[in-house]
Amino acid sequence: MGESEDARGVRSLSARGLGLAREGRNVLDGVDFAIEAGAIACIEGPSGCGKSTLLRVLATLLEPTAGEVYLEGVAAHAIAPRTFRRRVAYVPQQAPMLEGTVADNVAAGPRLRGAQPTPTRVEQCLALVGLDGAFAARPASELSGGERQRVALARALANEPEFLLLDEPTAALDTRAAERILERVRALAREGLGLVVVTHEPTHAAALGARRRTMHAGRLREGEG
Ligand SMILES: Nc1ncnc2c1ncn2[C@@H]1O[C@H](COP(=O)(O)OP(=O)(O)OP(=O)(O)O)[C@@H](O)[C@H]1O
Ligand SMILES: [Mg+2]
Repeated sequence: MGESEDARGVRSLSARGLGLAREGRNVLDGVDFAIEAGAIACIEGPSGCGKSTLLRVLATLLEPTAGEVYLEGVAAHAIAPRTFRRRVAYVPQQAPMLEGTVADNVAAGPRLRGAQPTPTRVEQCLALVGLDGAFAARPASELSGGERQRVALARALANEPEFLLLDEPTAALDTRAAERILERVRALAREGLGLVVVTHEPTHAAALGARRRTMHAGRLREGEG
């Protein structure tokens, strides 16, 4: 899979035969997956079916017990973790805030690489998630759940990833704010970002123009249900 995509020169994040056994149970069971740059995939499925686990394995934060993740056809194992995680960003269901201000949080990734984003750049990242520049100076610990969720997304975008893995990105947002986030991430995909969105909300796939996949007990299928 990865090799042929490489040959065509298309950037992709893929996985083959992913398995994850936990306490005698297969939380992931033979999962094949691929997404190309500029595409959006939605992953739906009942609570506990393995959606968050799959995202964590795709983000290389969890080691699968079988199978492998590939970035442009190169096994994740062969890529330095810091490089992989800059190119493939992951925003968990409830992303913890780092100490300091919102600006400190947004700048955290670039700072790891020795870069210092300008205040304008921080504001740009906040604007991408619909937050006013005035948020930059606020202590991250004082934010609401929905504000945290958006700062976590801005923090991921500050790294200019090629692929973005979002776990229920609108769970803490009202309908209007959720729609705006979906519009924005869709626009990012048009610019070439590859997006994987785990969602419980059946309308999201249509709003994103996404390809739907459904998980059931650790198995991933094309389409809904
Ligand atoms: N560290 C762990 N040890 C053992 N089992 C785990 C662990 N983490 C997750 N699980 C189990 O793996 C299964 C899949 O969990 P996961 O978080 O991937 O589900 P999910 O599809 O994201 O569910 P939700 O929609 O509720 O977020 C669940 O049954 C969960 O209890
Ligand atoms: Mg989950």
